[in-house]
Amino acid sequence: MGPRVSAMLLPVVLALVWSVSAQAPAPTEVRIACGTKEKYQTPERLWDKDWGYTGGSVGNLTAEKQRDSDFTHLRYWTMTDGPNNCYNITVPNGHYVFRFFFSFGQADNSNREPQFDVSLEGTLAYSLKPAWSNTDDTSYADSLLFVDDGTATACFHSTGHGNPAVVTIEILQLYEDAYDLGFGHWNHHYLLNAMSRVSCGAGKDAYGTTLGADPWGGDRYWSRDVYKYEGDNIATVETTQPIRNVNIRPQFYPEAIYQGATITKFGGSVSYAFPIEPSQNYSIWLHFAEIGDLGITAPGQRVFDVLYNDEVLFPDVDIYALAGGPNAAVVLNKTLLVDGKALTLKFKPKVGDILVCAIEVYQVVEREFPTKASDVWALKALKYPMGIPPRMGWIGDPCVPQEHPWDGIACRLDYGQKSRLITGLELQNEGLRGILTNDISQLVYLDHINLNDNSISGPIPASIGNLNSLTRLDLANNKFNGTIPEALGRLDKLTELYLQNNELTGRVPATLAAGPVRGASFNFVGNPDLCGIPGLKACKRLSAGAIFGIIIGVLLGSGFLVLCGVVVWKRRENIARAHKIMSPPKAPYAAARTSAIEKNVQLSRYTSFEEKV
Ligand SMILES: *[C@@H]1O[C@H](CO)[C@@H](O)[C@H](O)[C@H]1NC(C)=O
Ligand SMILES: *[C@@H]1O[C@H](CO)[C@@H](O)[C@H](O)[C@H]1NC(C)=O
Ligand SMILES: *[C@@H]1O[C@H](CO)[C@@H](O)[C@H](O)[C@H]1NC(C)=O
Ligand SMILES: *[C@@H]1O[C@H](CO)[C@@H](O)[C@H](O)[C@H]1NC(C)=O
Ligand SMILES: *[C@@H]1O[C@H](CO)[C@@H](O)[C@H](O)[C@H]1NC(C)=O
Repeated sequence: MGPRVSAMLLPVVLALVWSVSAQAPAPTEVRIACGTKEKYQTPERLWDKDWGYTGGSVGNLTAEKQRDSDFTHLRYWTMTDGPNNCYNITVPNGHYVFRFFFSFGQADNSNREPQFDVSLEGTLAYSLKPAWSNTDDTSYADSLLFVDDGTATACFHSTGHGNPAVVTIEILQLYEDAYDLGFGHWNHHYLLNAMSRVSCGAGKDAYGTTLGADPWGGDRYWSRDVYKYEGDNIATVETTQPIRNVNIRPQFYPEAIYQGATITKFGGSVSYAFPIEPSQNYSIWLHFAEIGDLGITAPGQRVFDVLYNDEVLFPDVDIYALAGGPNAAVVLNKTLLVDGKALTLKFKPKVGDILVCAIEVYQVVEREFPTKASDVWALKALKYPMGIPPRMGWIGDPCVPQEHPWDGIACRLDYGQKSRLITGLELQNEGLRGILTNDISQLVYLDHINLNDNSISGPIPASIGNLNSLTRLDLANNKFNGTIPEALGRLDKLTELYLQNNELTGRVPATLAAGPVRGASFNFVGNPDLCGIPGLKACKRLSAGAIFGIIIGVLLGSGFLVLCGVVVWKRRENIARAHKIMSPPKAPYAAARTSAIEKNVQLSRYTSFEEKV
């Protein structure tokens, strides 16, 4: 190979090296042992000490729960922390498995199992129902979703049944294209809740990495074979033969799940029943490999249908044909709407027997559009100066999940912006004692503000005048002081302005005093030092200096007018004299001409007057 050829190949080689190394970096993995103050060792790994939480307390798992798990601590939130609390974990944008282990403790003097909701990136993912703590299945939860804002956010929402609590949180990166449901870019708009992920024929639960899976598979958890429902002549089989097409992109399934299977004999069928929530879409992933020891040597020797109710989801599954031979992995997927409390999959043989290696069932949840970032920042900036109490739940996203919005705000969905917008502040009678800052003007979509009946003090921010959409502004029954900003006069959509019973001073701006004329409803009473419109006291008399100034001004002004009058009168005289000189003796046609000239004179008189003024 000449030097020129190798120079040409260099970019190719570099590209190859780059593409290999691009996949080489380890996926992002955050594993937090909640409630711990030091790194925490379990038989499997070292966990991060607790971080990223918005508050709450540290507790112990109950003694009984401690015996059943590797963990002793948890984080929990009481009523004084407010109804919404979150973990906000900074990670690179990407596709992730969010995994939780829930339990509860006795630190809050309650051995009662709490019930609460969990949202991920603003979308409600789980509701922990009564008796959730009785099974591993419902104590562990995992979901697959994209993080697009640099922060993995998981929030715990109180439903008034005990204190939300969590033992571990794991945020494990998945390969970008994993679990592509074929919605294109819209994949980012869905969240997959793992309902079941079962390794058929397996006797033990196991993590993906324990089973030898590439870490880019997100270390998914595979449960032992607990969902078998009914069937005939069922058996399990295992092999040590290597399986092809495993641990590959995009989903990196571990080889081990194909080295065991549920099978039937003598043409038996088998059903699996998975607990679900009714009337939701579910994405089903089925895994097969024609295990070589079983004597299938050609296509057509094992053929079966997979049914949901009476509907054939996957007809004529022939593993050997699909994989092109024995000991090779085959993955089939389908998304469907499911009713009832269980999703029952029936494997029904056509030729030979059934063989199935693994089944995954995910609930497909459409994600919420989050609140526009600028609105979130503005509300966070207002929160502390205004003294918003924790019970109002101003943590996480203001508008979503829709089941647990912040108290005292109104939202509107804007499909165009793919965002929710803040349209109202409804904070009447909340006992607020703070101040209202200029940050309110960042909430540009506000159409109503109601702070009636609090103890908010300080000035009314002039920047409210920038809120073009505002129709109703109610600041009545507070302690606002200072003057009413002129800028409020710019709010031309404003139809209701209530400022009564504050400590406002000075003159009501003329622009607002005209308000009632526009048919708007205004109220300014109960501000002892406010003046200038009927119903309020008269504004203070002017000082001697001001009166002197006004007199001088009036004198100068009238002197000027007199001067103008004299000039005009002089000009008129001159013109009239010119007429006399120029005019021929009266003739019938001349009368019309004269009047025309006179009109012009009048016109020029007005013009010159205006110019001078
Ligand atoms: C947790 O348990 C430890 C002993 O195991 C105890 O010292 C500690 O006080 C407990 N903490 C709480 C909050 O109950
Ligand atoms: C999460 O925390 C980081 C760092 O504390 C912060 O920069 C970011 O704004 C927070 N994100 C949210 C959504 O609260
Ligand atoms: C299920 O999916 C269909 C088709 O994508 C969609 O129209 C429907 O709204 C979904 N239903 C639920 C409950 O998510
Ligand atoms: C899922 O199934 C569809 C056909 O139903 C197929 O186009 C797609 O490639 C499958 N996805 C994966 C990751 O196998
Ligand atoms: C408004 O009240 C605050 C105290 O609440 C005071 O510091 C401030 O000077 C007052 N402003 C005016 C203009 O009276």
